[in-house]
Amino acid sequence: MNMPTNRQWQVAKSPESGGLTSSGGLALTADVFKPGTAEVPEPGAGEVLIRVVWFSPDPMNHAWVRGIPGKFDPTPIGAAMKGGIAGRVVASNHPDWKIGDGVTGFLEWQDYCVSDGTDRMGAPLQRIPAGVPLESGLGALGMTGLCAWLGLVDIGHPAPGDTVLVSGASGAIGSIAGQIARLAGARVIGIARGADKCDVVKGLGFDEVLDATKGDLMGQIAQAAPKGVDVFFDNVGGYMLDAALANLAHGARVVVCGATAHYDGPTPITNHLMLAMRGATMGGFFYFDHIARWAEGRDRLGQWLANGQIRELLDITDGFDHVPEAALAQFQGKGAGRKLVKIADDPFG
Ligand SMILES: NC(=O)c1ccc[n+]([C@@H]2O[C@H](COP(=O)([O-])OP(=O)(O)OC[C@H]3O[C@@H](n4cnc5c(N)ncnc54)[C@H](OP(=O)(O)O)[C@@H]3O)[C@@H](O)[C@H]2O)c1
Repeated sequence: MNMPTNRQWQVAKSPESGGLTSSGGLALTADVFKPGTAEVPEPGAGEVLIRVVWFSPDPMNHAWVRGIPGKFDPTPIGAAMKGGIAGRVVASNHPDWKIGDGVTGFLEWQDYCVSDGTDRMGAPLQRIPAGVPLESGLGALGMTGLCAWLGLVDIGHPAPGDTVLVSGASGAIGSIAGQIARLAGARVIGIARGADKCDVVKGLGFDEVLDATKGDLMGQIAQAAPKGVDVFFDNVGGYMLDAALANLAHGARVVVCGATAHYDGPTPITNHLMLAMRGATMGGFFYFDHIARWAEGRDRLGQWLANGQIRELLDITDGFDHVPEAALAQFQGKGAGRKLVKIADDPFG
């Protein structure tokens, strides 16, 4: 068989700044990305070969390159970068996978990947149901939707009549989290930066959207939530977390999903004592620690998506060559929604 080239994005050098346990910035730089090629891998016994169609630039990309102490190792220099992918099985020696199946997981950023049915985090490859676009496997039905669902359902517990505040509401996870909170009967306030992003979030049905670029975010929240915030779903940290802490209702729940503002460097939090004053709790989760919950979440999210009860915001870049700029855009607050790069046509599309 005449195999095509296997393009890949490799780690060119160690990122200079920061690290998860240091006070430096975490955002990657363009010189960490290097294009290369490799042989198309051969699937062995019990393995599948996947034709990758989509890459998903995630804020986690800095972590895939640097490693997280106690969670996973850094990617060696010269090796293919790891990241979210969606594609099709094009050869299979695995009993659970057949040619044409839609599949997603955390593998290498290259044209073709092999897998024994697990991804590079040791998690099972996830099936994208027939009839569902491959990109939704990385959007509402992937880490994006599942983080929104896990954080809200397991930690936030929004109830009818609650006021739920979401930072990074124009982002991949925040845009879904707000919609799920509305389905739970809550009044939902989003925080975004700039009029254009606020309009996008409003279009998703959020009750109110606060523009953080207008300043006095603490005052804006106080005005929008005069009885206080019952659930704060935080993707950003920094001054957004601080402003939300000052406005918690008694018994509030703060969900720590991410801290994008901290990825650029240290940023102080001064209002944490409000957790004590308001009898509030703050809890976080790591997506890969909750594999047992993914199937239930995906079923629920799949039904909402099919019924039009939630909408995905997708921010699509076309072309393998544009991966670094799409991956860096997320650290620069560019675009709205789930960032995706289409690197090939769906061979079964
Ligand atoms: N807990 C977990 O297991 C888990 C898993 C995946 C991701 N995460 C984390 O969850 C968070 C959200 O992920 P996501 O995929 O939704 O990311 P995303 O699509 O990049 O959205 C994050 C949003 O944060 C806002 N933002 C505020 N300050 C920012 C800054 N200084 N730089 C860049 N963006 C800023 C941006 O919207 P505006 O410009 O409108 O403010 C952006 O749209 C991230 O922190 C990520 O690391 C956690």
